[in-house]
Amino acid sequence: MVLKATAENIAAAAGEIKGGNIVAFPTETVYGLGADALNPVAVSKIFEAKNRPAFNPLIVHLCEHSQIFDVCSYTDKRIEKLIKKFWPGPLTIVLPKKNIIPDIVTAGHETVAVRMPAHKVALELIARSGTPIAAPSANTFGFLSPTSAIHVNQQLAGKVEIILDGGESDVGLESTIIELIGDEFRLLRPGGLAEEDIETITGSLGKIDGVVESPTSPGQLLHHYAPNVPIKFIDEVQFDDIKSKKVCGLFFKKVDKRIEFFSVRILSPSGELHEAAANLFKYLHELEQENPDIILAEKLDEAGLGIAIMDRLNKAVNRYKG
Ligand code: TXA
Ligand code: MG
Repeated sequence: MVLKATAENIAAAAGEIKGGNIVAFPTETVYGLGADALNPVAVSKIFEAKNRPAFNPLIVHLCEHSQIFDVCSYTDKRIEKLIKKFWPGPLTIVLPKKNIIPDIVTAGHETVAVRMPAHKVALELIARSGTPIAAPSANTFGFLSPTSAIHVNQQLAGKVEIILDGGESDVGLESTIIELIGDEFRLLRPGGLAEEDIETITGSLGKIDGVVESPTSPGQLLHHYAPNVPIKFIDEVQFDDIKSKKVCGLFFKKVDKRIEFFSVRILSPSGELHEAAANLFKYLHELEQENPDIILAEKLDEAGLGIAIMDRLNKAVNRYKG
């Protein structure tokens, strides 16, 4: 439902965010599709609504400078200067994340992308929600990023509780994304803030060959989170081959009793895909930390969020094939 961004409707939208639902809202760059960044099940609903066949790390939106300390850790003095000069505004910074940020927000990465949008509706929504808001652009997979509530409604009608109409986005282009790696800042995505402006504070920005995406192309993964333990699908192994091995299991609803596991995780005992998606990266991390010889994963049906979950598992399995 498209609603004018009045104080009352912003409060209603904040209520949806607090209640674990998703809301589309205006920013100065493009419209975002937001959920409580600290609630992994709520965040899974973003991927479902976008119809994305894969998980992408999301930008966490803040309403004041000091909130950055709640979600990131860093010591580099230039960050303070960057946010003083460019926040609120179209600059996203990728920094080491704090534990409070669930793994589904970062698609398993140890870093989180943060920005403070320069739009009073967005800022008020975040403030009233009382939580940082994780949001990608509010388009469905493969479509252009929306710069008005009408665009959002064309793509997401019926899939989102509230679309807050705050007029057309001024910038009309996604935020510029930089990442701090060691003591060098790199450009991950060109966008609404010019590189030269950023470079007055960071010095010359490094570039990553081949992964810079154009803001009009569908968001492509800039990095992949790669599990550090071999993973196979349970229905693709010979049980004899794993007999003497330390094996961990990752299941959808229930454990396969034919194998003796060192440790197992069940993505969703009730078979709920939101819950499964919300737990996926967290459980992969936990199982890796058990240091097994191999993780055996159950396949899920490739429908709805099951597509994105299987995309992640397939990538992990393929990495160790051959
Ligand atoms: O202007 C914008 O940035 C808009 C508004 C809504 O804020 N948001 C936006 O989000 O463009 P999205 O999800 O469409 O694009 C975010 C990009 C993705 O390409 C993602 O891969 C990258 O940010 N990203 C997010 N977290 C990252 C991380 N930890 N490391 C590297 N890249 C990251
Ligand atoms: Mg996008």
